[in-house]
Amino acid sequence: MDKFIIEGPTPLIGTIPVSGSKNAAMPLMAAALLANSPTTLNLIPRLKDIYTFKKVIEETGTSVNFNEDANSMVLDPANLNNTEAPYELVRRMRASFYMLGALIGNAGEAKVSLPGGCAWGPRPVDLHLKGFEEMGINIELDQGYVYASIKNSTVEGGDFTLNPSSVGATINLVLGAVKRAEKFIIRNAAKEPDVVLLCKMLAEMGADIEGIGTDTLTIRKVDELKGIEYSNDPDRIETGTFMIAAAMHPESDLTLTGCRPEQLGKFPDSFKKLGVDFKIDGTEIRIKSTANLQPVSVTTKIYPGFPTDLQAQWATLMTQANGTSVVTDTVYFDRFSYVPELNRLGGKLRVEKNKVTIQGKTILSGASVMSTDLRASVSLVMAAMVAKGKSEILRIYHLDRGYEQLEKKLNDVGASIQRVPQ
Ligand code: EPU
Repeated sequence: MDKFIIEGPTPLIGTIPVSGSKNAAMPLMAAALLANSPTTLNLIPRLKDIYTFKKVIEETGTSVNFNEDANSMVLDPANLNNTEAPYELVRRMRASFYMLGALIGNAGEAKVSLPGGCAWGPRPVDLHLKGFEEMGINIELDQGYVYASIKNSTVEGGDFTLNPSSVGATINLVLGAVKRAEKFIIRNAAKEPDVVLLCKMLAEMGADIEGIGTDTLTIRKVDELKGIEYSNDPDRIETGTFMIAAAMHPESDLTLTGCRPEQLGKFPDSFKKLGVDFKIDGTEIRIKSTANLQPVSVTTKIYPGFPTDLQAQWATLMTQANGTSVVTDTVYFDRFSYVPELNRLGGKLRVEKNKVTIQGKTILSGASVMSTDLRASVSLVMAAMVAKGKSEILRIYHLDRGYEQLEKKLNDVGASIQRVPQ
């Protein structure tokens, strides 16, 4: 296991290229299992979660060829002969549960382990299962596994409302329905760019999906889907994370390239209120920070609202704002494991239910901290980059799950981050 040693404070000056999206890539990889010929995916990031999902897919007999230098992946399900996603792999990463929809689509049956809990709470999959049942798929649970089957090769479908709206359930149900359901309607469907990208790819493969980009998706089965070449989106959460990291130091002047700013939803509205100099030019975003950062309270919501995946980073930024702010998470109620660690660095944060109140501005100073999940970890890195002196960030394997070449990208623009064995 490795840790980071970070020396601060350092402004971020220069250019960072944004990588392909982790959360959008995995549904695209799952969709390749539905095709009758190989699929080529571009802009696939080299991340631990991608390698884990590659392994889950390979378990089925599907060949997965990852050209890491080109960030390109070819998947061919021609020899798919095993419809199981085992606990050993699914427990490592919840997105493996997409195999349920992908295998129903490919083979009409699946045995997929239930994902279990995660670092910040139970994160149920009840909506995925209820949705499949509504579709007409037979679902049984036994010894921690979900067994899915269908009597004939197709099911009638149905009309299912997601409450709450769920990215994962929408993706799973779309994957399961496109080749199996006569007509299946998903209401209150997630509209996150990851869902839209998947639906667009499936449509290009030949799927019949009405309402792409809206919250009502109507799917009518097609018999065949063809393999295509398709490009992943850049990572909007990585983009937002670096925007926030730049804002944290008054002398930062950072340009992000290869972005899709229109996929940031309402996030730029909050960002503009900080008082930083912030410009979007096509696929580039430039942030010049300020010594007089304004406190900005935010509440997370489903897309296009403020993303929960930037909640921890925003609260961390607010330690550097001149005043008090409140960050509320309405998507996950218990995603605040970073707070005690941030307080160890000198932050003044107080959690009450699903709100954290941040008293700024505080001078942070280096300490040893550790974290329990991906977004908490990156927030501690950001705090350490503006803290005075040396910090140690333990358990950085979380970062390797979701940020491609994080220390290289940050060191290239002036950070001092060293990876050493823990
Ligand atoms: N929910 C249920 N039942 C379900 C499914 C979800 O009650 O069957 C609830 C959840 O408990 C939550 C809400 O619905 O309160 C939304 O959860 P959602 O299903 O949308 O989340 P997810 O699909 O499990 C994805 C991302 C997360 C991101 C959320 C919200 C991936 C692999 N994961 O998770 O990303 O936080 O959407 O946008 O795409 C991350 O990247 O750090 C991360 C955790």
